[in-house]
Amino acid sequence: MNTDRDIRISAPLIRLENIGMIYKIGDISYEALKGINLIVENGEFVSVMGASGSGKSTLMNILGCLDRPTAGKYFLEGRDVSNLTSDELAEIRNKKIGFVFQGFNLIQRLSIVENVGLPLYYSGMHSKEATEMAMDALKLVDLADTENKFPNQISGGEQQRVAIARAVVNNAPIIMADEPTGNLDSVRGADVMRFFKKINEERGATIILVSHDKNIANYGKRLITVKDGAIISSTVIETKNVV
Ligand SMILES: Nc1ncnc2c1ncn2[C@@H]1O[C@H](COP(=O)(O)OP(=O)(O)OP(=O)(O)O)[C@@H](O)[C@H]1O
Ligand SMILES: [Mg+2]
Repeated sequence: MNTDRDIRISAPLIRLENIGMIYKIGDISYEALKGINLIVENGEFVSVMGASGSGKSTLMNILGCLDRPTAGKYFLEGRDVSNLTSDELAEIRNKKIGFVFQGFNLIQRLSIVENVGLPLYYSGMHSKEATEMAMDALKLVDLADTENKFPNQISGGEQQRVAIARAVVNNAPIIMADEPTGNLDSVRGADVMRFFKKINEERGATIILVSHDKNIANYGKRLITVKDGAIISSTVIETKNVV
């Protein structure tokens, strides 16, 4: 018999079931992920930590639909996306996922507002509407005044905030960030993290973030630890930990 607690109104945002990833180079294969089970609910802010080589980026690439697992199932909003074609995965990425990388990855010959609007131009949006949405996203990271500058005319911390604006410009429900503060000093890093927190709290975006730095990871609400390709713990982060 079902009790109220058993009945879900909708599927979780993300559900990984026994995900495995084996990389093959010639005759040699390497098991980078082993039996990963994970549920991420809508609106969560999950930080992922673990030693170098433990499988964090491999996991992020699968969660971000950049790569397919070699075993297990990945349900995104209840849909099994583990065996989609690369075109189908690209479509999901465009609609559902914004990415922020360690190296900012802005296009140098485009202005700041054009960089932010890029995902919209790619999806065929009319440029006036795209520019308005890009300006809204720039305002969200307090950089509206940089709209006509170019990436090399703003600081590293500001460039990463522009990358955050680009990741949220099409209102993607999921934002994934792999070492987003890795190229920044601690002051700039904290500055960037304020905005991840803001888009989680104000826009309700679900954030999954990898960081080596405990102070950065502590901006999240839940900490997942990965070791040798497996999740070894998942704990709630106390808000008092944030410095
Ligand atoms: N494309 C690939 N081909 C073969 N092996 C790979 C590939 N990508 C990653 N690996 C291996 O899988 C393991 C996990 O790599 P991964 O990049 O996920 O680690 P990580 O936890 O992100 O490390 P870091 O903290 O250094 O970024 C490593 O041993 C790595 O060498
Ligand atoms: Mg990595």
